[in-house]
Amino acid sequence: MPVIAIIGAQWGDEGKGKIVELLAQDADMVIRFSGGDNAGHTVVNKLGEFKLHLIPSGIFSPRATCLIGNGVAINPRVFLDEIDQLNKSGVTTSKVFISDHAHLIMPYHLLIDGLEEQRRGGQAIGTTRKGIGPTFADKAARLGIRTGDLLDKDIFTQRLRPILEYKNTILTQVYGEKPLSLEDIVSSYSQYGEHLAAYITDTSLMIDEALGNNNIILLEGAQGTLLDPDFGTYPYTTSSSPLAGGACIGTGLGPTRINHSLGIFKAYCTRVGAGPMPTELKGETGNIIREQAHEYGATTGRPRRCGWFDAVAARYSSRINGFNGAVITRLDILDIFPSIKIATSYKLDGEIINYFPSNTTTLAKCQPVYEELPGWQTSTSHIRQFEELPREAKQYVSYLEKIINCPVKLISVGASREQTIKKAPL
Ligand code: IMP
Repeated sequence: MPVIAIIGAQWGDEGKGKIVELLAQDADMVIRFSGGDNAGHTVVNKLGEFKLHLIPSGIFSPRATCLIGNGVAINPRVFLDEIDQLNKSGVTTSKVFISDHAHLIMPYHLLIDGLEEQRRGGQAIGTTRKGIGPTFADKAARLGIRTGDLLDKDIFTQRLRPILEYKNTILTQVYGEKPLSLEDIVSSYSQYGEHLAAYITDTSLMIDEALGNNNIILLEGAQGTLLDPDFGTYPYTTSSSPLAGGACIGTGLGPTRINHSLGIFKAYCTRVGAGPMPTELKGETGNIIREQAHEYGATTGRPRRCGWFDAVAARYSSRINGFNGAVITRLDILDIFPSIKIATSYKLDGEIINYFPSNTTTLAKCQPVYEELPGWQTSTSHIRQFEELPREAKQYVSYLEKIINCPVKLISVGASREQTIKKAPL
């Protein structure tokens, strides 16, 4: 039975939430494996519009067990609020579980994320300020506290005490801030622990059991390939791996277990936060895309930078993730344009290059070289069959398919589950 990794192929916000929610109707398990509440996965269904930050987008499927894997950074307050909101909307959350290996976002992580951004000044990354970078930094530095530690107040306090001493030294002596109180953190986090106890477990065992039962498992990516700390536009990246490979590390699945790597591509490009984006449109066309598509961050509300589809970056993303299927989202946003551009190569110091430079400074110097395709200038949001798309829209999708070098399986032409064209079987 298949294990399918659903991966953001650009700079995040590709519409993974909608696709996961759709596929979850036939899945037994959906697992988040990276990031934290920096993610904002939008799902629109008959219960309303939801922006999920931590809970997998499979939560609306009566069939799916939803796991938050060890690779996710957990802000307990955000998790509990999300559970509450879902319950208030009539969504059952009895099949949600959190890995006991997942790291906790602590109050000092949130503070330091903001303070570091201020310190960087003009070189700020434009983080979501959710404490993600500091939490993953502490995980690597062996200074993290895991959800499993929350289950015993004494263990939690023993673990926190020396770490907080160190963090308070940094807060007071580096940033000139007030120290945080051990008692306050222990008090609030032990309450979280009581509420979270029912959800915390060794999720890798549950995954193993699901594999043994031949279950269908979806691995729900967060952020996007070009934000990966190794292969993205470092240092303008996030701090955990959004790649298909990251799905193994963030769940405890062995690499041979993943059968499909499905890349989610928006029909154009967006990016939120700083860092190079070769096809960014700073003028009117970019504004038109932003307003037409309401391209504002689901987590921070920041306006997203918009631009044409970058096929150089897309090929790179396909290679890094080994995509064997692609999904094109938001095709309908391009309905209004008389012609549509795709960057097929870059111009760098007068030379044409076809690869995505590994160095961010070099990438920032690249100028996109465009192919221009005719637009279709008619609405596509009501269309459900590929054959019924306007000829130019089919041509656009086929062009992307060729250039990404992997078959397009689904095309999304609107926010709701129904607004999806199944081009090829998964
Ligand atoms: P952080 O993950 O909050 O540390 O932010 C690092 C970079 O990743 C910033 O440029 C953010 O805007 C970007 N980022 C983080 N999460 C998302 C997301 O879910 N969608 C798009 N960009 C994101």
